[in-house]
Amino acid sequence: MPDILVVNNLKRSFGKLVAVDDLSFEVRQGEILGMMGPNGAGKTTVFNLLTGLLKADGGTISFRGNDITHETPSRRCRRGIGRTYQIPRPFGKMTIFENLLVGAVHGAGLSEGRARKEIHEILDLIAMSPKKNLLAGGLPLLDRKTLELGRALATQPSLILLDEVASGLTEGETEQVMKIVKDIQNRGITIVWIEHILMTMSKGVDRLLAISEGRWLNCGNPEEVMRSKEVMECYLGAEDE
Ligand SMILES: Nc1ncnc2c1ncn2[C@@H]1O[C@H](COP(=O)(O)OP(=O)(O)O)[C@@H](O)[C@H]1O
Ligand SMILES: [Mg+2]
Repeated sequence: MPDILVVNNLKRSFGKLVAVDDLSFEVRQGEILGMMGPNGAGKTTVFNLLTGLLKADGGTISFRGNDITHETPSRRCRRGIGRTYQIPRPFGKMTIFENLLVGAVHGAGLSEGRARKEIHEILDLIAMSPKKNLLAGGLPLLDRKTLELGRALATQPSLILLDEVASGLTEGETEQVMKIVKDIQNRGITIVWIEHILMTMSKGVDRLLAISEGRWLNCGNPEEVMRSKEVMECYLGAEDE
């Protein structure tokens, strides 16, 4: 499979803290690439650099053969990079349907008519059709997480970046989210999935990228990466993770 995203020597510091340190990896068309690493490893910062929310200090990001390193977030979104946020922030006073509409119209630039049609498909995919008229404000965590998936899908991505969509969920709820993520992949969408719960990663992803302190540790077959010396060492002092 060709690469949909190629990241070369990406760098970003916050003052003296090097959050992303010369990181290179690629994402293959159609795969689910897991990204694991302890808290503070730089995972969310990588997503912020990929979407343009943060500017890189160095390195390049190429998406479908185009250098997008210096493009605005909205340009990258229109190109087909969608994301979820670790802490979902839906518009609380809007319904689930309206939240998705905002993503489709403002994120993807769809006409309202076309957006409404797309949203019905997304609601089916995230199994939220019966709840579409509920206000997003009072939803339980699982619903907020799946709505967050829906909001990312509404921007019509070909690559979707998932930031801890399973964190805080029970095992059963995590299974539900994993099923939705698989369904998203089956629709031809490529996925990068951050999770710091290791179990989720070994079961749900095609390849696994491990990072620590902003640096590349290992990448490849999930089981092999998890058993690798680099990853074991990194997690030995952090068993409570
Ligand atoms: N906007 C920011 N300003 C200053 N420091 C930040 C900022 N964002 C992240 N960091 C720091 O960068 C490091 C990596 O953070 P983050 O990417 O959120 O890690 P992860 O998602 O792997 O838990 C942490 O030490 C964090 O405190
Ligand atoms: Mg994070």
